[in-house]
Amino acid sequence: MSFFSHKTLETKLPLLIIAIVIAVSIGGLVLNLPIFFQESTTKPVAGLKPYTPLQLEGRDIYIREGCYNCHSQMVRPFRSENERYGHYSVAGEFVYDHPFQWGSRRTGPDLARLGGRYSDEWHRVHLRKPRDVVPDSNMPNYPWLEKAPANAGTITARMRALQIMGVPYTDAEITAAPGQLQSKTEEDALVAYMQYLGTTLKRVR
Ligand code: HEC
Repeated sequence: MSFFSHKTLETKLPLLIIAIVIAVSIGGLVLNLPIFFQESTTKPVAGLKPYTPLQLEGRDIYIREGCYNCHSQMVRPFRSENERYGHYSVAGEFVYDHPFQWGSRRTGPDLARLGGRYSDEWHRVHLRKPRDVVPDSNMPNYPWLEKAPANAGTITARMRALQIMGVPYTDAEITAAPGQLQSKTEEDALVAYMQYLGTTLKRVR
């Protein structure tokens, strides 16, 4: 009986575990590796711009406040979703998102095509007290965002980190960033971020 017979493999647990790991890794690599090199998943859609410093600050607040616990940001390619939210999401819209906010939890509506749907003022009222505009809403109030200043102190570091990840920020843009957050509130930033969401495809098509 040779060393690599089925019997040896099935009776020696450590060997079996190693063999399984090797087999599964090969399957995983074959499935996942090509995605990193496919143009449709790595190339930005036409007109996609990196977040401005204010939008980026808003995105970080979105993550900090856990908005993703109730909101996904991915319109799936089903007719019901397209009629409700708009064009389905494509991978090239998210190449500057590190990490992306697709999610699957939908206590509230999907936000992937939110930009331009409401006025800035609507968003401000809604963030401070959602029930003032949607009486049945169970979304929490976020009244402190209106008072809290945007964090200009760390914006350059956050943009540099994204630059390393491949987001095409120029050094001049990064140097100018803190100035753009001066006298802005966290609410201003979050609204700017929400108004940009999903608008690239809308502009192009
Ligand atoms: C506990 C769950 C929950 C959390 C957390 C939450 N939301 Fe909501 N959100 C909802 C629900 C439910 C609705 C639908 C009712 C309404 O419009 O208020 C909603 C609606 C919205 C809408 C309107 C979307 C539309 O198309 O009408 C926006 C914008 C929004 N939320 C943004 C946010 C942001 C930004 C945060 C984080 C600061 C957040 N939400 C956190 C539950 C949540």
